Amino acid sequence: MDLACVEGSVHALLGKNGAGKSTLIKILTGAEQPDAGEIRLNGVPVRLRSTREARERGIAAVYQELSLVPELTVAENLFLGALPRKAAAVDWSALVRRARHALAWLPEPPDPHARVAELTVAARQLVEITRAVAMHSRVLILDEPTAALGPHEVERLFAVIRSLRARGVAVVYISHRLDEVEAIADRVTVLRDGVRVYAGDVSEVSREALVAHMVGRDEAPEGRGRRATASRTHPAGQADAPPLLLARGITSLDASGRPLFRDVSFALAPGEILGLTGPVGSGASAVARALFGLVPLSAGAMELAGQPFAPRSPREALQRGVAFVSDDRAGEGVVPEAPVAHNVSVAVLPRVTVRGFLDLRAERALAARRIEQAGVTPADPDQPAGTLSGGNQQKVVLARWMEHGARVLVLCEPTRGMDVAAKEDVHRLLRRLRDEGAAILVVSSEYEEIADLADRALVMSAGEVAGEVRGRVTAGDLLALASRALPEEVRA
Ligand SMILES: Nc1ncnc2c1ncn2[C@@H]1O[C@H](COP(=O)(O)OP(=O)(O)OP(=O)(O)O)[C@@H](O)[C@H]1O
Ligand SMILES: [Mg+2]
Repeated sequence: MDLACVEGSVHALLGKNGAGKSTLIKILTGAEQPDAGEIRLNGVPVRLRSTREARERGIAAVYQELSLVPELTVAENLFLGALPRKAAAVDWSALVRRARHALAWLPEPPDPHARVAELTVAARQLVEITRAVAMHSRVLILDEPTAALGPHEVERLFAVIRSLRARGVAVVYISHRLDEVEAIADRVTVLRDGVRVYAGDVSEVSREALVAHMVGRDEAPEGRGRRATASRTHPAGQADAPPLLLARGITSLDASGRPLFRDVSFALAPGEILGLTGPVGSGASAVARALFGLVPLSAGAMELAGQPFAPRSPREALQRGVAFVSDDRAGEGVVPEAPVAHNVSVAVLPRVTVRGFLDLRAERALAARRIEQAGVTPADPDQPAGTLSGGNQQKVVLARWMEHGARVLVLCEPTRGMDVAAKEDVHRLLRRLRDEGAAILVVSSEYEEIADLADRALVMSAGEVAGEVRGRVTAGDLLALASRALPEEVRA
């Protein structure tokens, strides 16, 4: 693998899930050691034996798996390892002042005193980015920094990247979103199976060519990435079927009494995919979490199959047949040390347990079938889940809930961090589950994804439902609804 990054330029790194992007980043930041080859900084060969050494040489990174310490505050996380001191003690007021300064690039900066555990995934990602930027490094590496961000935050981040570039920083940018790459990158390198297959100027290569390099010619079946029109003829919900899940005027308040969402109502029928979208902070993912007992309601009521439904815990929701795929991969996703098979079967342990003992063979067989359907690569049930690439870990989580056979499936950002082909695989899977009668709620901040998947969609803004798109959903409809809901100054 070869990569050359120039100061004052943004270098995009592209490749399918598992291509080796994150591994390369870990090597460039001293988190892993190369078996062979050489790294040069300003022409001088360097050995990076630890992340600390890399940092001291001016290489900073935002890793794909967020690495903040949840128990510590935002300010502490920002300057961990370099806390300002007065005499022997930490200078707390200086720390908070510096944190405020570092966070000032954000439209709505989090409170420096807030514990990271209390933040949303998007806010955590913004803190993570702030930390890397605050290191004033010469090389800044961003591994899927926008995965949890909405369009508004992405624009802010791009403004920061542009100013860093103007100051001569070399930026390495990993993303599966080709529109972002076109918007921000000067150079691009494509990886496939750990090898560089293309390098050049972004302005000189078409999107189609980039995709072809990523997937490899022999492996680019016709229709990949194209909308699956056939399955869209499916009737939107079983029109006469009574809704399986009903929410009436549900409202939830955060710790300080501000609404996470307010007066939200919807019905979800078996055989239907309902999309829920909106900018970060719109409350869409909080609604999803409420369905799984992770967020308490303060007003309104829900029904499941005609019975009152007020889950106080995920366990209760699961018992009633509601499953949840979180957008918090690190906190609620895979157990990294456990084998893939285990991660798949954890939702259905009774099915692979004989008289209280885990039947390893049954577990492996069950997992093998599901990971094949979900397209997990490598398809090895014995491999620790933590050694899979980010996108493949997400597929393992999906495989788990496929096996569970839930009546209601709630998914937050189900394909975040997945490459185009993997996305299409997952969409196909979800359509199949729908056609088998599951009621599916998909929360996604990507309008394209909702347009591709949903039979019907609600757009949320500032905690309320701003509008609904029925029938054939297009990204344009969603964008129009969402921007109408924005306050004047943001729209301008
Ligand atoms: N510690 C490890 N042990 C064994 N295999 C590993 C380990 N870390 C990564 N791999 C494997 O190396 C390959 C490259 O993984 P990597 O995480 O670099 O992919 P990626 O390009 O970042 O993918 P994604 O887009 O999904 O994040 C994958 O097949 C992965 O399973
Ligand atoms: Mg990765």
